[in-house]
Amino acid sequence: MGKMTDLPAHLAVPHRMAQLFSSRFAAVPRVFRAPGRVNLIGEHTDYNDGFVLPAAIDLYTWTAIGPRNDHKLQVFSENLNEAAEIDLAATAPQPRDAWSDYVHGVALMLGKAGIAVSGADIVIHSNVPTGAGLSSSAALEVSVASALLAASGTALPLTEVARLCQRAENEFVGARVGIMDQFASCFGSANHAILLDCRSLDYQLLPLPHGITMVICNTMVKHGHSGGEYNDRRAQCEEGVRLLKQYYPGIRALRDVTLAQLEAQRSEVRRQRIPELIYRRCHHVVSENERVLRTVGALRKGDLPAVGVCMAESHLSMKNDYEISCAELDIMVELAEKLPGLIGARMTGGGFGGCTINLVHDAAVQQFREQIRSAYQQATGIAAEIYVSTAGAGVTEVKANG
Ligand code: GLA
Repeated sequence: MGKMTDLPAHLAVPHRMAQLFSSRFAAVPRVFRAPGRVNLIGEHTDYNDGFVLPAAIDLYTWTAIGPRNDHKLQVFSENLNEAAEIDLAATAPQPRDAWSDYVHGVALMLGKAGIAVSGADIVIHSNVPTGAGLSSSAALEVSVASALLAASGTALPLTEVARLCQRAENEFVGARVGIMDQFASCFGSANHAILLDCRSLDYQLLPLPHGITMVICNTMVKHGHSGGEYNDRRAQCEEGVRLLKQYYPGIRALRDVTLAQLEAQRSEVRRQRIPELIYRRCHHVVSENERVLRTVGALRKGDLPAVGVCMAESHLSMKNDYEISCAELDIMVELAEKLPGLIGARMTGGGFGGCTINLVHDAAVQQFREQIRSAYQQATGIAAEIYVSTAGAGVTEVKANG
């Protein structure tokens, strides 16, 4: 490794991967990099046609790729030190319940979109923690999709890349995720959050106010893989739409329901026409959509206390109404709320473990980082990882030689 370890990850990793690739496959690769994401607010709203506010972070998945003369993908994961072979000509491809399913799923969806995917040698490396709610899956999908497209001598609009990666996860891996993560990994932009309308896919880049930093605190509790709980929440929202249609026939998704409309039907819970659990799930989604728009208004005005209130309400809504938090996430948020310099804190991502997002005044970041780590250790006995990230760019090709 020698001098290379002195380089920052975004330069050192592609350099090392190119060397590894050359020693494994005797060729010089092209290297693509896609980021993970953090979501500032708007959780479990994407598959309800609602609004989200993610930002790409400076943790990435890199894919080094070179062509082969057959119809195979020979894939090597540097993190896991594990190889997988994918036969692109297989007639009945099946998932293997392994990391390679993401690669395979993306190749299949590219094929379904009419792209003749060429055989390729591939090396993958990632520093996005898995199961932490920072979209390691989307970073892998988007990175691989971009590499496969380039190796096949073709291109697609980024929106299509995002959609296709989502389909890979929905149809091949079996998680009914929304579009947020793949979209953020494609469209990330330095120092901006992305306000995305998940129905139209219209988006706006929202500058993050100067003087605040994103501090991501990993509880180190891993959420399940293509977990049943996530798909359950989605089914409960669909049930909510079915029931609410009796009163509001025009609605297509929870996105179309206002808080006043929902609250007007609260008595239906008492009459047992709407199960209380379904009502609470709907209440989270409907109120969360409203909070995203309130947060955007507050960020535009520079009203940071109002941003903090939205984040606190969002966390409580996920804890009580949507029931996707866990003890460690709640502790991490409660501890943050006591620390100087905090603007707002909430869990981020799918839930059931993973990370909190904290907006912190620049001057307090160093102290915040140390204090939250030791307070969390004391409260839980767990050593948290803390990532201080800027909002960064989306998927891109990088130079293999640093
Ligand atoms: C996961 C999914 C996203 C989104 C979030 C929750 O990250 O991949 O589509 O639903 O959970 O907001």
